[in-house]
Amino acid sequence: MLGERIWDSGSLDVSVLCLLWVVLDSEQTQPELLLSGGSDKRVRVWKRKLTEEGLLEGLEMVSMFGVTGGILAFTQNSTSLATASESFPIALWKLSNLTFDWSDFEPYEVLRGHIGGVTCLAFSPDGGQLLSGGKDQALMVWDVSSSPAVLSKSLPHSHKDWITGCVWTPDCVISTSNDGRLCLWDLQAGQCLREISWKNPLTSVCCLGRYVMAGCSEGALHVWNWETSTEICHIAAHKQHIHHCSLLPNTGEAAGK
Ligand SMILES: *[C@@H]1O[C@H](CO)[C@@H](O)[C@H](O)[C@H]1NC(C)=O
Ligand SMILES: *[C@@H]1O[C@H](CO)[C@@H](O)[C@H](O)[C@H]1NC(C)=O
Repeated sequence: MLGERIWDSGSLDVSVLCLLWVVLDSEQTQPELLLSGGSDKRVRVWKRKLTEEGLLEGLEMVSMFGVTGGILAFTQNSTSLATASESFPIALWKLSNLTFDWSDFEPYEVLRGHIGGVTCLAFSPDGGQLLSGGKDQALMVWDVSSSPAVLSKSLPHSHKDWITGCVWTPDCVISTSNDGRLCLWDLQAGQCLREISWKNPLTSVCCLGRYVMAGCSEGALHVWNWETSTEICHIAAHKQHIHHCSLLPNTGEAAGK
């Protein structure tokens, strides 16, 4: 299967562990910036280069800033970016600052609570809460609408291995783990409402309406209806470990990597 379009950053000698298309202005139909984060503890901010035509579009780097560990996850709400890394704190940054080339750009807030690398992040649909999951097997919810942000919920032993993905649905939150389980959580009660098990590690998760899609360590994408736990389909997408899956903005299309 061939993607619709390929962006090329030129040669970049680091392993990229996470990517995020950032929407700065919700009126825009296309996201304006692409963030990449990787093993070298740097967030790179890219813009599309408009000069090239055809399948291959260029990217030019507009800025770069450092975080304290190899970067594992990004998420944004309307005003802020959150970054998670191998070092345990989660950092919050202003989106409005991303395109300045700071030499000493500091996060405006740091959330401390995890005692392992933080592998996944997701803002709630209203933007006021941040969900995080980590190698410490904990899921945490941060109330970021209050200043300073507070840890409002902590589910310390939610899985038996690293948490690999976390998402919000209108009714609950969902997490995936290397323990092969996908869990639906009632955050208020701090209880797992339902779980779906797979024989191999589940490595990433995303959600659209009633459907939840998880990537797994043998390279397949699984789609379940999370309300009924029925499997909708199983896509033999890749031959190896899927690191990340997401839904392309405004299209309902899915991508795995
Ligand atoms: C980032 O942006 C905010 C306002 O959005 C500003 O107050 C602040 O000085 C900027 N710079 C840094 C380094 O955070
Ligand atoms: C977005 O997140 C920031 C901090 O991460 C928070 O201050 C702000 O209130 C959030 N926005 C909304 C709309 O809740």
